Amino acid sequence: MHKIESRNVDFFYGETQALHDISLSMKENTVTALIGPSGCGKSTYLRLLNRMNDLIDNTRMEGSILIDQKDIYLKNTNVDDLRKNVGMVFQKPNPFPKTIYENVAYGLRVNGIEDKKIIEERVVTSIEQVALWDEVKDKLKKSAFELSGGQQQRLCIARALAIQPSVLLMDEPTSALDPISTSKIEELIHELKNQYTIVIVTHNMQQAARVSDNTAFFYMGKLIEYDKTKTIFTKPAIKQTEDYITGRFG
Ligand SMILES: Nc1ncnc2c1ncn2[C@@H]1O[C@H](COP(=O)(O)OP(=O)(O)O)[C@@H](O)[C@H]1O
Ligand SMILES: [Mg+2]
Repeated sequence: MHKIESRNVDFFYGETQALHDISLSMKENTVTALIGPSGCGKSTYLRLLNRMNDLIDNTRMEGSILIDQKDIYLKNTNVDDLRKNVGMVFQKPNPFPKTIYENVAYGLRVNGIEDKKIIEERVVTSIEQVALWDEVKDKLKKSAFELSGGQQQRLCIARALAIQPSVLLMDEPTSALDPISTSKIEELIHELKNQYTIVIVTHNMQQAARVSDNTAFFYMGKLIEYDKTKTIFTKPAIKQTEDYITGRFG
């Protein structure tokens, strides 16, 4: 049974087709890396999984995407609920201009949770989940901007987790971070996959190899190859994949 299932997905920005016939499925509690050169459609595909592309004018999708066996593009889909279930973390840490505590609590309130006790419990649990608690427990009332970039990114992950999603989308979540913060996030991804299904875009191939179970190689809007990460990095079936992972282009 697949957690996420894409069938023959085409996607257009105006007249320009950015994705061609993508069929790609992911099992629950796995990490899937999306790799490929800049502009090949990785972020576009990722954003389709929680209908973030709906926010861009003049775009169109064909094909279908199912999450938990439900077509998320049906007319009666509740997009707010979908985005609660499918959380997202971006390339640049984007905390709200609020306190560390409020960054997580505010997200909960926006999503209709008002019980103070529940909020407090979720704030603590999710900050613990991202292994940030010891670093921030004495300054929860300080601005999130006082944290380092890596801490801000972990806070943004905590904010996403507090909503209790089952899928976590990450678009190059460490590309703005130093190596130590990067390895903390990678460890975290490893922990989180016990509870979440994770899809991560990365242009860092070592990172894809380290964190993912499966890897999908995109090139010019097409899915060229999708397999176990180990296979992609040791015995890819397609020459374009091999050329990319060995650094011959991209
Ligand atoms: N908002 C947008 N409007 C128009 N074209 C876009 C938009 N976002 C991305 N594209 C185009 O779609 C293609 C895929 O982009 P993207 O998904 O961002 O690639 P990647 O994440 O692999 O670098 C590129 O040609 C890009 O220029
Ligand atoms: Mg991108």
